[in-house]
Amino acid sequence: MNAYSFCKLGYADVDQLLQIEEQVYSHPWTRGNFHDSLYSAHEIFGLRDNKQELVAYFVLMPVVDEIHLLNFAVSACMQGQGYARILLDKMSSYVREKPFSSILLEVRVSNQRAIEIYQRYGFTEIGRRKLYYPAANNSREDAIVMRMDL
Ligand SMILES: CC(C)(COP(=O)(O)OP(=O)(O)OC[C@H]1O[C@@H](n2cnc3c(N)ncnc32)[C@H](O)[C@@H]1OP(=O)(O)O)[C@@H](O)C(=O)NCCC(=O)NCCS
Repeated sequence: MNAYSFCKLGYADVDQLLQIEEQVYSHPWTRGNFHDSLYSAHEIFGLRDNKQELVAYFVLMPVVDEIHLLNFAVSACMQGQGYARILLDKMSSYVREKPFSSILLEVRVSNQRAIEIYQRYGFTEIGRRKLYYPAANNSREDAIVMRMDL
């Protein structure tokens, strides 16, 4: 794996975020979603390679004593090389420095790969949200809610 740096992202990085977002999600966040998130003081962190290209990112929303992981992605050409694990390590060490007791996330029931990555990392299913996500052909898909206590 190449050298990389970890940094906080802001409005100036939204074009690069969108490039990855639109590659890897069937229903990607829009520019407006990223702007709303930044405006609401959610925190966006990214991994950049040695050419300063964005490789991966995540978005965190604090809710009282919990952190919600709102978005978590690795660029299409860098997947399968261990970046998800690095991203989860960065996220949990950042969150552990703060007074939070757990990390919560939602994931599509069909996203088996992400579910397995989260489970192996220590997240467990705590519930389901029926028809939470938009899906193909105007249908909806359930979300699995997962939590990891810190
Ligand atoms: C889910 C996602 C973040 C995984 O990122 P990644 O960098 O490819 O994952 P990694 O290379 O770190 O692999 C993590 C694990 O998956 C395994 N894996 C790698 N490639 C795989 C593949 N093609 N199929 C299944 N498992 C695979 C690895 O062996 C690794 O296992 P380990 O933790 O036991 O070592 C990435 O696929 C992605 O961005 N997907 C689109 C966005 C998304 O779905 N995000 C989650 C929203 S909740």
